[in-house]
Amino acid sequence: KEAHVIVDRDFVIGDTDPRLFGAFVEHLGRCVYGGIYEPGHPTADERGFRGDVLALVRELAPTIIRYPGGNFVSGYNWEDGVGPVEKRPRRLDLAWMSTEPNTFGTNEFMDWCRAADVEPMLAVNLGTRGPDDARRLLEYCNFPGGTELSDLRRAHGWEKPHGVKFWCLGNEMDGPWQMEMKTATEYGRIATEAAKLMKWIDPTIELAACGSSSRNMPTFGSWEDTVLEHCFDHVEFISLHTYLNNYADDTPSFLASADLMDSFIEEVVAIADAVAARRRSAKRIMLSFDEWNVWYRTRRKNEGRTKLGWPVAPPILEEVYDMQDALAFGGACLSLLNHADRVKSACLAQLVNAIAPIMTETGGPAWRQSIFYPFRDMSRFGRGRVLQTRVSSPVYTTVYYDPRGTSELSFPMPDVPYLKLAVVDNLDEGTVTLFALNRNLTETLTVETQVRGFGALSLGEAHELHHGDLKATNTKDRPDEIKPASLEGVEITGDRVRVRLAPASWNVIRLS
Ligand code: AHR
Repeated sequence: KEAHVIVDRDFVIGDTDPRLFGAFVEHLGRCVYGGIYEPGHPTADERGFRGDVLALVRELAPTIIRYPGGNFVSGYNWEDGVGPVEKRPRRLDLAWMSTEPNTFGTNEFMDWCRAADVEPMLAVNLGTRGPDDARRLLEYCNFPGGTELSDLRRAHGWEKPHGVKFWCLGNEMDGPWQMEMKTATEYGRIATEAAKLMKWIDPTIELAACGSSSRNMPTFGSWEDTVLEHCFDHVEFISLHTYLNNYADDTPSFLASADLMDSFIEEVVAIADAVAARRRSAKRIMLSFDEWNVWYRTRRKNEGRTKLGWPVAPPILEEVYDMQDALAFGGACLSLLNHADRVKSACLAQLVNAIAPIMTETGGPAWRQSIFYPFRDMSRFGRGRVLQTRVSSPVYTTVYYDPRGTSELSFPMPDVPYLKLAVVDNLDEGTVTLFALNRNLTETLTVETQVRGFGALSLGEAHELHHGDLKATNTKDRPDEIKPASLEGVEITGDRVRVRLAPASWNVIRLS
């Protein structure tokens, strides 16, 4: 099989915003406790931050981390997580049916972000709380001093303001599972009022309103429209969430489903721009894809909500990712890159243990899951201008299965290209990177790409992620079962690059 691609230096989709390479830390299972924070762990520092996890986070290279939820935030009292640790309350967390010890909170998160060299992104509770609480948290975090709440932060030991720029106005407020879910009108109103109060305190912040929890939500579309009708003038972003799944155990469909992220993004752009058009406004709402990943094995069981006994940091949502998950995940990376003009922020959900690229054993080692590698590639090599691609690839026909198993939302997907691709031109480094996914499970795909406008090209480095067994995984005992290997046989003639992609493979080719 053979595919042909044309890219041209002058045809640009947009620049990747550094925030496109974000991730997410929620008080969920062992993401915080036993994940990023584990006092007494052999690698932990005096603050309890696990050094082995920090090293892997730096290698993964996320740029911004969303915190503290997720569903958790909709019942969170931020005051519980600041001040002397011995005075902090233990509380029931109704999002994950756990006990929250509150030994890690906002200030610890800020210190951890500094240690990890990432920007913090905070979500406010618009479930059980509301605009007043959001206002108070922002004053605590960002106001320099001389008021009760800013002086409280200083008294807690954080003299300088945290300067958090990016804030999420609640989480998945359209979902019945959310504490105090709202209708679009209810949410649009309180999001607007929260935004007003927050920006009156700190006009430099940027705000994301909640979009739909997924493209399959019954209110998708009308939710975005109504919410933005209310908060268009007050926010910079609308959020999107997607978790790809392979419930049907149908790998070709699973790999094709990443393309629905493209549709989802384009639909939300259309709605946001329709709201702008009704106002005759030149403002463009950007997209914050603040939860995306593969998630299904630990999802349907809804294990987080059925654990008995209100445990602290139970091992829930500990999805063990295999090779095919890494491929679907790579497809999602490509969807994000190819919409760099409008998706200006995105968070891989999540970072450690709970549906995460990094796994740990409490008291033991940390290792990389299969999905670690496409993310690391995207973050390391995806900085720059994303170029338009003209792809001519053999195609296949498959089916999209609705995750709820309802047949009316399952539909055929004809003409899915085996090749999914993104190309990023990094002007600072003088490199052009091809990210290429071969979705053909049995056949090698030869790809010839004409990279116009760069003169004669030379090969920097090329690697592939591939495994003969699509169900192979990395585990504590076999942490390197899946890892990138050098991609051999890349041929360059002038401005043409010819490469053979292994069946079911993720590939990165760096040119200069
Ligand atoms: O990331 C796990 C959960 O998925 C988040 O808490 C929630 O926002 C989403 O439903």
